[in-house]
Amino acid sequence: MTTTEQCTKLVKKVYASFDASHDFEHIERVLATARTIAETEPTANLQTIELAVLLHDVSDAKYTTSKETEAAILAQLPLTVAERQRVQQTIAAVSYRGGHELEATTIEMKIVRDADRLDALGAIGIARAFVFGGAHGSLIYDDTEAIHTYESEAAYRKKNGAIVTHFHEKLLKLKELMTTTYGKMLAKQRHQFMVHFLQQLSAEREGKL
Ligand code: ADP
Ligand code: NI
Repeated sequence: MTTTEQCTKLVKKVYASFDASHDFEHIERVLATARTIAETEPTANLQTIELAVLLHDVSDAKYTTSKETEAAILAQLPLTVAERQRVQQTIAAVSYRGGHELEATTIEMKIVRDADRLDALGAIGIARAFVFGGAHGSLIYDDTEAIHTYESEAAYRKKNGAIVTHFHEKLLKLKELMTTTYGKMLAKQRHQFMVHFLQQLSAEREGKL
């Protein structure tokens, strides 16, 4: 069994307990996108990318309070200390953190982050936002809610706003934050699809269309 296969077996059990916005299907989509982007970036280390994608949400702050699961799985894989550190550093650079993200300094960080963000956009991004919102008892929209920019990651995490608000606070900003050429191209198309969806939603609320 390859290290990636070993890791896959271990993470599947963790994602099985998350809602459908962050289940193993999310991981499979991000893996497919990351592999596609990696084909356009010949210097990228594919094993680092694959392991970082597989593990990037197992210790997500929205589902758990500790980094233990990520560390425990990494400890079971046949990696050198340097390889393990590279995977951990790549994972740390993925999260949006309410606009307080870390800088993506390596090509592996850029690829994994773009691939994860592409899954927050387009038709799948809309579906995931509504699944996440549903799982947290959020409203579809709330006209009384202001669009915030958050002073810290903690303030962003505390917020449980309406789903349409989340589009404005995060999802519609991602297009400008893409780092790879392929990521930018796909994000532009998926962004447009979301803008169209929001316009349709507004029109339907007015009893038009
Ligand atoms: P990250 O893990 O990159 O910091 P988020 O915490 O914003 O990103 O969550 C990732 C995904 O979870 C989003 O792309 C979205 O689909 C969903 N999500 C997170 N927060 C909300 C929310 N308040 N309303 C609706 N969906 C959300
Ligand atoms: Ni993710």
